[in-house]
Amino acid sequence: MFVILLTLLAYLLVGLMIGIGVWHVWLRTTVGKFQSDETMTGKTVLITGGNSGLGLETVRDLARRGARIIMASRKIDVGMKVRDEIIEETGNKNIIVRKLDLSSFQSVRDFSSEILKTEKKIDVLIHNSGCASTSKKRKSVDGLEMTMATNHYGPFLLTHLLIDLLKESTPCRILIVSSAYYKIARVDLNNLNPLDTFPFYLYYVTKTANIMFGLELAKRLKNSNITVNFINPGMCSTAIFKKVPFPLNLLVKYSFKNAKEGAQTTIMCSVSKLLQNKSGKYFSDCRETSLMNFVKDDVKNKKFWEESIKIVQLKSTDPQI
Ligand SMILES: NC(=O)c1ccc[n+]([C@@H]2O[C@H](COP(=O)([O-])OP(=O)(O)OC[C@H]3O[C@@H](n4cnc5c(N)ncnc54)[C@H](OP(=O)(O)O)[C@@H]3O)[C@@H](O)[C@H]2O)c1
Repeated sequence: MFVILLTLLAYLLVGLMIGIGVWHVWLRTTVGKFQSDETMTGKTVLITGGNSGLGLETVRDLARRGARIIMASRKIDVGMKVRDEIIEETGNKNIIVRKLDLSSFQSVRDFSSEILKTEKKIDVLIHNSGCASTSKKRKSVDGLEMTMATNHYGPFLLTHLLIDLLKESTPCRILIVSSAYYKIARVDLNNLNPLDTFPFYLYYVTKTANIMFGLELAKRLKNSNITVNFINPGMCSTAIFKKVPFPLNLLVKYSFKNAKEGAQTTIMCSVSKLLQNKSGKYFSDCRETSLMNFVKDDVKNKKFWEESIKIVQLKSTDPQI
């Protein structure tokens, strides 16, 4: 009996390894690659969360293309180290790091006023930062559920505070890094500070929130020469999965895209001249793809926007969109 069990286990393990191997090869051959050599000289890119993962690979690529890059980093010391490495690697010295904690309204306000004082334009704003919790419920300094605060309310407030500079920088682009998993979650308009909801699920809710916010933003910015588009990077092995336990972490490591592959769509949407006039679109593996109907509900998106304005405590003296 023991020998039979061992044999079955061995077959299972070999099957699993072959499965992962085949998946790995399939992934490598189908992953979207942005192969254009277009440059970004003279362009300024502001990216949140450039310290690691997809953000870091985006910074690396855009630095090679000659962009001036503002890295909005929660951990300023890590940001400085990353900046120095990228300068060394690419020879592009035009990279600066500014402190930004998206989960804090005060930090978003401080960061924005610094940017408005020091920058003449922003050609591309990339909302890349994101966090996910497994089961631990966390509250931001403003009393908001942490995942919603970081992934939706912070970027929402930041976009408002920078909008006048963006309008002065046209044509310009706003990119929002969402996820294909927006499909499985719904924003509950009756519970926009969901402190009691399972945090893991809320990550997906925030990715739906990203698209609802972005579609309403694209609508409000129609004819402004500012485009708004969404990125689905695919499943990528990055620090966002650092708390995934063994043996699932092996699955993440060997069957997901690496960060460079995952960053390709963000890079394409930042750079490609072909996308100059596209707005309100969703891109995955360097291709435009369709959004599900449920997320295109104008009435719900407008209501979500109006409620978000109250939650981020936007003042009448702040820029309105
Ligand atoms: N990896 C995937 O499979 C996947 C799939 C779909 C979508 N995405 C999205 O892709 C984006 C990038 O994620 P990633 O996979 O590259 O993960 P990552 O390596 O963990 O990067 C996330 C970045 O967000 C920053 N961040 C987290 N909380 C922040 C806060 N309060 N204020 C400012 N920055 C904050 C992190 O900064 P620290 O360095 O300070 O932690 C980090 O630089 C996220 O929006 C994520 O939702 C990822």
